[in-house]
Amino acid sequence: MNLIHRPRRLRSSSVIRSLVQENHLQASDLLAPLFVKEGKGVREPILSMPGHARLSIDELVKEARELFQLGVKTIALFPAIEESKKNSRASEAWNPENINFRAVQAIKTALPEMLVMGDVALDPYSSDGHDGIVDPVSGEILNDQTIEALIKQSIASAKAGFDILGPSDMMDGRVGAMRMALDEAGFQKTLIMSYTAKYASGFYGPFREALASAPKKGDKKTYQMDPANAREALREAALDEAEGADILMVKPGLAYLDVIYRLREASTLPIAAYNVSGEYAMVKAAAEKGWIDGDKVMMETLVAFKRAGADVILTYFAKEAAKLLAR
Ligand code: PBG
Repeated sequence: MNLIHRPRRLRSSSVIRSLVQENHLQASDLLAPLFVKEGKGVREPILSMPGHARLSIDELVKEARELFQLGVKTIALFPAIEESKKNSRASEAWNPENINFRAVQAIKTALPEMLVMGDVALDPYSSDGHDGIVDPVSGEILNDQTIEALIKQSIASAKAGFDILGPSDMMDGRVGAMRMALDEAGFQKTLIMSYTAKYASGFYGPFREALASAPKKGDKKTYQMDPANAREALREAALDEAEGADILMVKPGLAYLDVIYRLREASTLPIAAYNVSGEYAMVKAAAEKGWIDGDKVMMETLVAFKRAGADVILTYFAKEAAKLLAR
């Protein structure tokens, strides 16, 4: 054939392929979420997330050190709170002695350069299992009352040493309220990575098992977004940007690559993708059955986030991927 254009020329050897490779994944792009609970020497496996466990603080510090050495220098902490410490106000969320705050202090003492992100939302501490305050009569999730609680949680989190705060609650106006309160309290340097477009998703199942944090009643559809919507994500992004967010996040990741792409086009801020627990669990389960090559699918998934425009990837694959990248 007399073909002028033969795109395969650029795929003909591994050297030419790497020469023209458009997107590169690095350990420094990855942010590792970790689960923490009370105790000593505890690594309690999370059944739906093979390879992950609820860690006591001593084990958490070991895990963080290993990640840091592999080049994953940002982590996010998620505390499993004892049922007896949960109440309808979620007041454990700003108790300066809570497990989450003791955990960040231990990590910052052992690894001062590690960046640590703390979630801002009430669900791990709420006896109702909702991210916000529930009206006891109507069952409504109360926006403005929730913001007051989130402010207390934010200030206490910054005091405890968190470098990045991640409001994952989807209340209206929380980014601006947090930024103002943080600045007033002298925490100008504390970053806000907003869960900007967080969808009411079925992909959070394993995470809610890990923290026993599923809603006791109803669902999260009055605050998390409808999976059918993308324009709405641009509205949320514009608001978060105007309110002072430093980084915009899309969650879940894989089924929402179009949303990542749209936010990338619409904003100059860094964009983060949260490759959530259910996405991790699906890959692990299929790989365990021998139905897919787990490593291949993991790396393909992660580079897809970069191709879509994400700068930061929150992923339970962080350690495994960093190990593969180091080879
Ligand atoms: C809580 C929160 C959730 C996740 C992160 N923060 C769960 C939820 O909104 O129900 C999910 C993370 C994951 O599934 O990996 N506000």
